[in-house]
Amino acid sequence: MVSFSCVFLDIFVMMVAVVSSAKFEELYQPSWALDHLTTEGEILRMKLDNQSGTGFQSKSKYMFGKVTVQIKLVEGDSAGTVTAFYMSSEGPTHNEFDFEFLGNTTGEPYTVQTNVYVNGVGNREQRLNLWFDPSKDFHSYSILWNQRQVVFLVDETPVRVHSNLEHKGIPFPKDQPMGVYSSIWNADDWATQGGLVKTDWSHAPFVASYKGFEIDGCECPATVATAENTRHCSSSGAKRYWWDEPVMSELSLHQSHQLIWVRANHMVYDYCTDTARFPVAPVECQHHQHKTTRT
Ligand SMILES: *[C@@H]1O[C@H](CO)[C@@H](O)[C@H](O)[C@H]1NC(C)=O
Ligand SMILES: *[C@@H]1O[C@H](CO)[C@@H](O)[C@H](O)[C@H]1NC(C)=O
Repeated sequence: MVSFSCVFLDIFVMMVAVVSSAKFEELYQPSWALDHLTTEGEILRMKLDNQSGTGFQSKSKYMFGKVTVQIKLVEGDSAGTVTAFYMSSEGPTHNEFDFEFLGNTTGEPYTVQTNVYVNGVGNREQRLNLWFDPSKDFHSYSILWNQRQVVFLVDETPVRVHSNLEHKGIPFPKDQPMGVYSSIWNADDWATQGGLVKTDWSHAPFVASYKGFEIDGCECPATVATAENTRHCSSSGAKRYWWDEPVMSELSLHQSHQLIWVRANHMVYDYCTDTARFPVAPVECQHHQHKTTRT
């Protein structure tokens, strides 16, 4: 009887902790410039014009799980604009996992930049040009986060993995609850062709469309101390979150082949190989690369 009720309690804990939904209003709220954000049925549109960009953020913070959104990026001339979808914690030693979509002139490819901040330090940019035109249709963009890895996925294809290398003495982001954010803004000082191409405001408004909002993660109420959230978001005993299953601790063989394909055919920049910027490769690169060459 006793063990039965324990199991029941654990299942109950999981049910309340894991949030998964496709309704914008249930998971998110606008962050600023509310008049630049509109909904029409299941579609949310964010607009950038010469007055303002806009953004939204999750109502809750999370520790671990998977967040997904479907985005149709700005069509036609999107030069100078950046649309971002990311997870971030707060404060000077915050962690952050970024997808940034850098616009381009009509007919030229969007560039997807990813970045990882650990304890307030970023500088881990990678860039790729996608295998499709992301302004023509909705495509899904996801961030999977568990104690072992952070995986960036495009239509479920992994495009980047940031592995936990704590056993090598390298810090891994796993102690701070993170919110989920998106925004569109003018970044024509750097975004397109290194800042050479400026935003052409005669083509405004620039509109990015969203649907398919999903967060399948462990929710961390703001009223609860971080240590308590860490405990309740960790698998223990009969309570196992799906992202802590052994198969989620690294890519499957199929996924690692997909990643190799992406890196070989679509990657246009990797901070790990930028020797002008980093004469000595950042430590995690030495280990990540070692792993890649062995695969
Ligand atoms: C912003 O755009 C509107 C509409 O195109 C235009 O009427 C207005 O003059 C512009 N404002 C500025 C400050 O450029
Ligand atoms: C824009 O297009 C140019 C020319 O094809 C390309 O070199 C660049 O990587 C593209 N992306 C950005 C963000 O400039």
